[in-house]
Amino acid sequence: MAADVVIGLQYGDEGKGKVVDYLARNYDYVVRFHGGNNAGHTLVVNNNRIAVHALPSGILHPQVCNVIANGCVIDLDQLAKEINQHGGPSAFTGRLFVSNAAHVILPSARIVDQETGGKIGTTGKGIGPTYAAKMNRTGLRFEDILNGSMSSVYSTDTIDTVRPFITNTVKLLQMAEKSGASILLEGAQGSLLDIDHGTYPYVTSSNCTVGGALTGTGLNHKSIRKVIGVMKAYTTRVGEGPFPTEQPNEIGDKIRQIGGEFGTTTGRNRRCGWLNLTELRNACAINGVDYLVVTKLDVLDTFEDISIEPAGVVKGWNTSTKGLRNKHKLPTNAVKYLNMATKSLNAELKYVSTSPEREDMIVL
Ligand code: GDP
Ligand code: IMO
Ligand code: MG
Repeated sequence: MAADVVIGLQYGDEGKGKVVDYLARNYDYVVRFHGGNNAGHTLVVNNNRIAVHALPSGILHPQVCNVIANGCVIDLDQLAKEINQHGGPSAFTGRLFVSNAAHVILPSARIVDQETGGKIGTTGKGIGPTYAAKMNRTGLRFEDILNGSMSSVYSTDTIDTVRPFITNTVKLLQMAEKSGASILLEGAQGSLLDIDHGTYPYVTSSNCTVGGALTGTGLNHKSIRKVIGVMKAYTTRVGEGPFPTEQPNEIGDKIRQIGGEFGTTTGRNRRCGWLNLTELRNACAINGVDYLVVTKLDVLDTFEDISIEPAGVVKGWNTSTKGLRNKHKLPTNAVKYLNMATKSLNAELKYVSTSPEREDMIVL
């Protein structure tokens, strides 16, 4: 047992990137197990804001080995771009590994997605068509780069940047586990966007829930120690699909403005609304969540009344919680809100995030 899993419990953008970056100090490996550069994770350290789409959220920690595992689909140009943004290939020697069995997003898949993904409101990054090709057994895998069959699609520069990192990550992770290393498996998107358990067909094309962490890495169930569920203090959704607690009114506009709810990947307005306990209970059950992290509590600081569907309304706290790190300083009404939001989820609330900054976290 050496692997913990971070999972988004809503429609994505729960703040998983911040949580993974915060926790990564305790791990030897940070592993992406599904999805691709439809994801956008924001890491903020000392006011420096970094967005990662292809690379795992552990890259800011020099001791962490970052793995893009077999369940992922990746656009080579995006991966090469991010490697170059963070010091080039030499900066990642020995600390980045990309699975030989992960699938490559071809430029043609991106075009098909942009032509056909409108009804779902996809990110247009080619995710669906690439997973479709994988299931249809016509996909191209990273191992195909090694035998040269990608040279007509991607530039030599791009291929040369990525090639040194391709390896059998199943073996790598199994050996890491055997040697006693600790592993953090990093979910992208969110449980309600899961291809099986989400609001189909308004979903992404991979398993965002905990099962994906096994098939997407080759680790087995005995490897999983704890599941950490990340939930925002309210709900957002990008793209089309049902959103029962959406506030398409001045409440939603206020949440969007204060929370900066604009897409990290596509810049689109995120739809905003209240918490939905029915959905959260489902997500916690499917993932077997042990610990909860509530993020963006500070965004609700100035609301008079805050709803939790279907539990009721909590009075706001009208005090700034931004940057708070001490649980004893939480306003009484904020504690009430956190209780009502989490008490029926069968998991222990362990962290509350109070700003984008890595260290602005309350440990309970
Ligand atoms: P992810 O996709 O789950 O990694 O989340 P994103 O990075 O796409 O979106 C979360 C946004 O909220 C980012 O802009 C973060 O910097 C920001 N954020 C994370 N935690 C907090 C928090 O506790 N308070 C505030 N105000 N912003 C936060
Ligand atoms: P992170 O990891 C929020 C949404 C898209 C669209 C649907 C399908 O940052 O939480 P896709 O391009 O995956 O075929 O689009 O899923 N979506 C996300 N929404 N956060 C994400 O990732 C998302 N990745 C995909 O908006 O509705
Ligand atoms: Mg995001």
